[in-house]
Amino acid sequence: MKNSTVFVCQECGYESPKWMGQCVCGAWNSFIEEKISSEKRSRSMQGNAVKLSDVESAQKTRIDTGIGEFNRVLGGGVVAGSLVLIAGEPGIGKSTLILQAAMNIKGSVLYVSGEESEEQIKIRGDRIRKELPDNLYLMSETNLEHIIETVDRIRPQLLIIDSIQTTYTDALDSAAGSVSQVRSCGHELMKLGKMKGIPIFIVAHVTKSGDLAGPKIIEHLVDCVLQFTGERNQDLRILRSNKNRFGTTSEIGAFDMGEGGLIEIENLSRNLLDDINTSATGSAISAIYEGTRPLIMEIQALTAPANVGFARRSSIGVELARLNMIIAVLERKAGLSLIDKDVYVNIVGGLRPDAISFDLAVALAICSSAKEIPLSNEALFVGEVGLTGDFRSVQHADKIAKEAERLGFKKLVLPKKNADKLKSKISLIGVSNITEAVEKLSQRVFTSQE
Ligand code: TYD
Ligand code: MG
Repeated sequence: MKNSTVFVCQECGYESPKWMGQCVCGAWNSFIEEKISSEKRSRSMQGNAVKLSDVESAQKTRIDTGIGEFNRVLGGGVVAGSLVLIAGEPGIGKSTLILQAAMNIKGSVLYVSGEESEEQIKIRGDRIRKELPDNLYLMSETNLEHIIETVDRIRPQLLIIDSIQTTYTDALDSAAGSVSQVRSCGHELMKLGKMKGIPIFIVAHVTKSGDLAGPKIIEHLVDCVLQFTGERNQDLRILRSNKNRFGTTSEIGAFDMGEGGLIEIENLSRNLLDDINTSATGSAISAIYEGTRPLIMEIQALTAPANVGFARRSSIGVELARLNMIIAVLERKAGLSLIDKDVYVNIVGGLRPDAISFDLAVALAICSSAKEIPLSNEALFVGEVGLTGDFRSVQHADKIAKEAERLGFKKLVLPKKNADKLKSKISLIGVSNITEAVEKLSQRVFTSQE
């Protein structure tokens, strides 16, 4: 077999016929040499063009994973023939999640693990459920060609590959987990899934060290990219959809990692609000609209005297650039001096939402701490602030108001533009800009009356 050589960037997967010091993506010294067999190169999918009008309306039958939170993130279950990438750090619970789903699914499932033996998977299965289903096939295998043979024989209704980084194809010489192996196996699995109509879950590890090729390399060819995140020392796990050809993105599902596997958290807002302290200064409750439902959570801020000439700004959950912007707006537009103060901000519960509807709550939590004026824990604060200090209207304010009402909030403080249009049973307080918001805070409009 004749081999040709390519150089592949470890960062972005860019292929070049010759070695380059810097890649087009900007990374330095990121190229490694990889051999690609010519037979492999010339193989291609047979293509037939059809008229759009002749295509039969795709029956998007969905397979129920038996896990409500998982189904919702997928857009209502697994679509036939779809490729779902589940990415996350090692030890976060990816294998547990898919094994739980595999045990629920009616129909045959082939679970291929390149990381654990059948016995190890069985131990995990026993932990999750007492009765094990008899339509779940396990296979400890890393060779893609063997996997494809087994799929042909068993014809499962769902295939699970745990993980893509341990899978390798004979067509390449490079080691499992290299950029070209991950990409090539991804392609082969896509072909397998689409041609046979078998949905496939592909597990991918995300590692900080970057010694394994990451899931980014195959994100473009899969239908859904789900990210499983959480803190290993906390039980909360969040499943988030970053890409979904058959549903909404930014949908999230929440779980508790327990002794017997993952437990769904249906009312995450309630869960996050559980230990809110009534009288503390520096705490503001805010909401975001993630995917198809609002999520309510607490934001905490602390201001403390800084060492001369060096004020720290530190944040968990809110992007640091965003925090710095909010602080600058507070200083310039609302006259709050923070130059000699350290500012710490934290979103309680370990969530890292990429939302900007928190701005108002972050700003008021900082002011609340700096001025030692508490904010009512029966009020909810949403609004995105611009550099001018004005609030932009937030999306889905109506749904946030409904959720606030359901959870027993008394007040919703939001941009005036939203408040003017909205009708709600709870009291709405519209604010136009940061100056007005801080004034109202000083007048104790947002402080609990009791
Ligand atoms: P795992 O699914 O193996 O993670 P990943 O596949 O993402 O690497 O999960 C590993 C962790 O989850 C491990 O630290 C043990 C914990 N765990 C529980 O707490 N409860 C359980 O029921 C199971 C199966 C695992
Ligand atoms: Mg695993």
